[in-house]
Amino acid sequence: MKDLAGKHIVLGLTGGIACYKAAELCRSLIKEGATVQVVMTEAAQQFITPVTMQALSNRAVALSQWDARETNNMAHINLSREADAIVIAPCSADFMARLVHGRADDLLSLLCLARPLDKVPLLLAPAMNREMWVHPATRRNVAQLKADGATVLDVGTGDQACGETGDGRMLEPQELVEDLVAFFQPKLLAGHHVLVTAGPTYEAIDPVRGITNLSSGKMGFAVARAAREAGARVTLVAGPVHLPTPRGVQRIDVKSAAEMLAVTVAAAVDATVFVATAAVADWRPAQTAGQKIKKDGSGQPPTLEFVENPDILATVAQSPCARTAELFCVGFAAESEDLLANAQAKRLRKGVPLLVGNIGPATFGQDDNALLLVRADGVESMSRAPKLELARKLIAACAHQISE
Ligand code: CTP
Repeated sequence: MKDLAGKHIVLGLTGGIACYKAAELCRSLIKEGATVQVVMTEAAQQFITPVTMQALSNRAVALSQWDARETNNMAHINLSREADAIVIAPCSADFMARLVHGRADDLLSLLCLARPLDKVPLLLAPAMNREMWVHPATRRNVAQLKADGATVLDVGTGDQACGETGDGRMLEPQELVEDLVAFFQPKLLAGHHVLVTAGPTYEAIDPVRGITNLSSGKMGFAVARAAREAGARVTLVAGPVHLPTPRGVQRIDVKSAAEMLAVTVAAAVDATVFVATAAVADWRPAQTAGQKIKKDGSGQPPTLEFVENPDILATVAQSPCARTAELFCVGFAAESEDLLANAQAKRLRKGVPLLVGNIGPATFGQDDNALLLVRADGVESMSRAPKLELARKLIAACAHQISE
């Protein structure tokens, strides 16, 4: 199921060079299953044509409150009543100022003012020069818009069309879609701090070699994203993986199990939920050679000795806050056979209230997975689905269990 299926979005464009990104945004919203009604101010039409936006949205663009084709001649009412959300992207400094004052002298500002406050959320994606963004007038306007119930999304940082560098770029279309998808998710973990470990660890043999495993980190990254969508503050401790950081998630990159342990224990201090998805290497070389180990010509491979790595999940689960149930710990079990029995035994061994079993070879690197949730009082299976979908269900299950 697409993340915006069934959602009707009014996409408002105001005057700014970031209008060029609105075309891609419109496409991406539709790809995620939304229907999109574009509304453009006169200034927006200086930057991109309604023809482009009509072709992409497959709907005539609404341009004027005086458009007599609306049978009741009330485009502002019709447009604002049928929307699941109004998204202004780009939202110029001028348009923000106009919203603050409740101006209603063009169709877009008029429909924003006419929207039912409790039913139709308004999301703004600001886009402007960095000096305009930090100007006290804009700061005041942003604060006022938030107080009036609008959601003001972040801005990006970097090179600006004017040649300057700083804050104020409009977020990229994919970032905006991710924020909008998150906006619609229920805020089941608002006020919580969720800590997630993800990916493999890498245990160095020498400066150029090491042992690791095939974990891609996808499940852990999906859990981090789902927790963030549910309103939590999220810390993601990631082993070496090549995945983009989910929006709004604080990511700390580590390599070895020892590093992962240190960072995780520190972050666990004020966490309320800990989800250990990492495929931590069970052993590490007893010694890491300072220089590359060379062949000595004897034909004999070097003998490596290994020592066991600390168990991060068990360590955190034994910490005082976990023992007093202030920290809800969730383990994962990557098994190759006998999932139920292994997962039940592992839950007890690790001392956690919830252990999620999955078959390692069927999940490593895949975009989907199947899970078995093992608790003290029973078992729940989640059939094969995309990892993000499963992660959202898992987060909902955690939220349910900690609220009991
Ligand atoms: N785990 C951990 N630290 C370790 C090993 C595992 O935090 N050193 C966590 C994993 O993140 C996962 C759970 O413990 O949440 C189970 O991991 P798994 O590799 O399936 O189990 P092991 O404890 O390694 O047991 P075994 O190798 O016997 O299956």
